[in-house]
This record gives sequence, C-alpha cells and structure tokens, in this order.
Amino acid sequence: MTPPRRQPARRRTAVLGREAVLATVPVAVAALLAAAGPAAAGTTGASGAGDPYFPLSGNGGYHVGHYDLTLRYDTAARHLDGKAVLTARATQRLTRFDLDLTGLKVTSVTVDRTTAAFRRAGQELVVTPRHALRAGQQFRVTVAYHGTPKPVTDPDGSADGWIPTDDGAFVAGEPQGAMTWFPANSHPQDKSSYDFTLTVPKGCTAVANGVLLGQHTAHGRTTYRWRETQPMAAYLATATIGTFDVERYTTRDGIQVYNAVDPREARAAAPVLKKLPSVLAWESRLFGPYPFRAAGSIVDHAPNVGYALETQTRPVYDSAPDLSTLVHENAHQWFGDSVSLTAWKDIWLNEGFATYAEWLYAEQHGGDRAQKTFDALYARPASDALWAYPPGDPGSGGKIFGTPVYARGAMTLHELRKAVGDEDFFRILRAWADGHRGGHGTTAQFVRLAEQTSGKRLGGLFSTWLYTKGKPNRA
Ligand code: ARG
Ligand code: ZN
Repeated sequence: MTPPRRQPARRRTAVLGREAVLATVPVAVAALLAAAGPAAAGTTGASGAGDPYFPLSGNGGYHVGHYDLTLRYDTAARHLDGKAVLTARATQRLTRFDLDLTGLKVTSVTVDRTTAAFRRAGQELVVTPRHALRAGQQFRVTVAYHGTPKPVTDPDGSADGWIPTDDGAFVAGEPQGAMTWFPANSHPQDKSSYDFTLTVPKGCTAVANGVLLGQHTAHGRTTYRWRETQPMAAYLATATIGTFDVERYTTRDGIQVYNAVDPREARAAAPVLKKLPSVLAWESRLFGPYPFRAAGSIVDHAPNVGYALETQTRPVYDSAPDLSTLVHENAHQWFGDSVSLTAWKDIWLNEGFATYAEWLYAEQHGGDRAQKTFDALYARPASDALWAYPPGDPGSGGKIFGTPVYARGAMTLHELRKAVGDEDFFRILRAWADGHRGGHGTTAQFVRLAEQTSGKRLGGLFSTWLYTKGKPNRA
C-alpha cells in the first residue's frame, strides 16, 4: 500500500522554489518544470488524510462543509443513480484534488459550475478543475455517478459500505465504506453537515441521518428528504433502504425519534426499542446532554452483515438488537459521533467507551457490577485473544474492532474510575463529551483531561492498559 501522504513541511520550500523559478525563466519552461517536477506536488491535494491504518482514506488540501446527496435506488436492479454536491474550502492552493469513491461510474464532475477533468485511480477520484483553487477558497464540486454499489471488504474480512439486502440495502460505512456510495473526503478528521434526497420504489423506506424534512410519493416512487445539521464523519452517514415499519415520536427532552424496523425483526425489536427514551435519558445523566436533535433506530434484516453501526443520530442494526447493543450504539452518539477520532489508532476512544457504557448500564439496572465484569475478563489466561495486542494503537490489518479494543479499552476506563473515584470519573466523561462536542479528541487529550480533573498522575495507568503488550499486572 502507498505510504501516508501528509503535506510534508518540505513542500513549502518546493512551492517557494517554484515561484523563484517562475521569476527568472521563460514562462513555457517554468510551466514544464511545474508540471513535471516535485514543485507541482505542492498544489495537488494529498490522496490520503495521513492515517497510517487507511492511507488512502480522506484526502488533503480541503475540508467539506456540506454534502448534498441526491440518490435514486432501484432495489430490484440494485442500481444507484447519484448526484453529490460538496461545498468545500481549500486549505492550500489546489490545481488538483482527490475524492474517495470506489466502483460506480462517474459521468461528470464540475467545480463551481465549470466542467472539470477527472480520472479514477483505485479509490481516488482525481479532479482537476479548470481553474486552480486559491488557499481558503470556498468551492462547490458536483459529481454525477451511477452503477451497482458494492461493499468493500475490510482487513478483518467484514463487508462495509452499501450492502444489498433482499429488500433494499444496509448502509454502514465504518471504517471505509462511505466511498462505496458517495464521493467523499472519507476520514473522520473531516466532519460535515448533510442533506439527503433519497428516491426508492413505493413501499420501500429510505432512512438517513438527522431529521426527516418530508416525503412524497409520485409515479410509483417515494422520495425522502433527510437533514443532519450537526458535523458528521462520512462513515456515520447512512441511507438504509428496505420494507420497514415506521414509528415516530418526540421524547420529553424534545428529541425527535424515528424508528424503522424490518417486519421480520419487529417482534424481537419492540421490547428493546421501547427502552430507547429511557436509555438516552440515562446516558444523558451520565455523559451530559444528548448531542443531537434526532434519534432512533434502523432495524434491518441483514443476516450477512454481522454487526451494528452507530450511524449518527440513528444507529443501524443488522437484526433486532439486545438491550446492551442499544446502549452501546447510543453511547457512541457521545463517544465517536459527537466527539470524533482524528486517527483510527485511537479507536478505543469509541469502542472502549461504548463498551464501558454497557457495563455501567448493567451495574445500574440490576445486572453485574462493572467490577465483576472486569474481574471475569481479567481472569482470562495470558494466552487469551483479549491480550493479543494493546488497544491504544492496535495496528492496521483487521484489529481495530477486536476484543482488545472493546474489552481491554473498557477495562482501561474501569481502572481509571478506580484510580480517581466515581465523582471525578464521571466528571471526566462529561467534560470529555462537552469539551469536544461536535469536534475531535485524541487519546493524549483524554489523558491530560483525566489528570487535570483528578489532580493525579495517570501516565503509568494509561501506558500499562493502553500500550503495554500482554496481560497487564494487577495494580
Ligand atoms: N462501530 C461498530 C460497533 O460498535 C462496529 C463496526 C464494525 N465494522 C466493521 N466493518 N467490522 O459496534
Ligand atoms: Zn461500538
């Protein structure tokens, strides 16, 4: 795989070098030099966001403020027609930039209404606008595309992205599947608001993130318009389609709930979904106010998927979830969705936290104490998969969703809780959710916050539990 391509500092020199050349040699020669030499690289957006786990995920040189996605899906033919309008801002001068998109046929790309040249290179859609973009310039990219979307296979063997089902599609993009259904700056570093206009055969429901603005049926098709105004990472976008029973209500806290349930899962899902308002209220007491205006559940019947995803505002489940899973995916709304990763190596900030929320929920609802859950895990022998690698930097190659990340990640939080006491522990969780709301957080920032809040030195605890190989010794 290509190594990560961050904008190295040395590029700046290259740009200066090129300007110096321009001043002294004839224009034609300068153009040749600029096109051929490394100087040209100074104005092309990097093909990745610089994440060593997924070197081509995301892109350099711009941020997307808003995605406006207009999609039409023919469930029988499995054909998608798409138009994506991205409103973005250049963070450097750009003669060229990439979007992430895999499969599908692109028929046109325009930048600010002017036709742009484009080519495909693996998962990169390389766009060359007619006119270079200035650093800081706001611009609009429109991509028209169509085809039969196919999921990507992740390093752990799971399918991710647009996953066809017998009655539509299960759409979940963590970590890299957003690019299977829309052109994106597909790394959680870049968060954006979204509009979705989804047209599906009448009788199908298309469910995305945020609030439902409206729906209307004409000529045998129904169009659903969804809007998520809060910043959202591309992997958390969904447009799940199927035959669903729909339930809508507003909670006492004013959160708009939209549940879509495959009738085959309805009986098993009902008693669990009924608890959503109380779960959100309980999580809000522990973690601070719910970060979004909308909530809900998409319960699909997608037996081949094998996981659920915390799609923003409205998690998607491959079958009726149990209560623990409902607690987990909704805890992610605070930890992972509102507060996002800057790099996939920090994935324990998502999965360790959501798993620990499950332990806390059990503890406070007549189940096992978190200590008991911890002890049962700790009792596993040193050879157990739980201790196969430390969770703080699990490595690429299918490890980010492994047991060490979820369970040992949660154990790390339990150790923190014991070290600082309940009062400070919950203050830390709330300050984390509040201080990074709608933005990003790193492990280093979390450690600093924990130390500042508790007045304790915690470097040893985190280095043992997050970064030390093998089964940690008991403190
Ligand atoms: N974040 C999801 C969860 O908590 C897991 C997503 C797994 N994705 C995958 N491609 N394997 O539970
Ligand atoms: Zn999770």
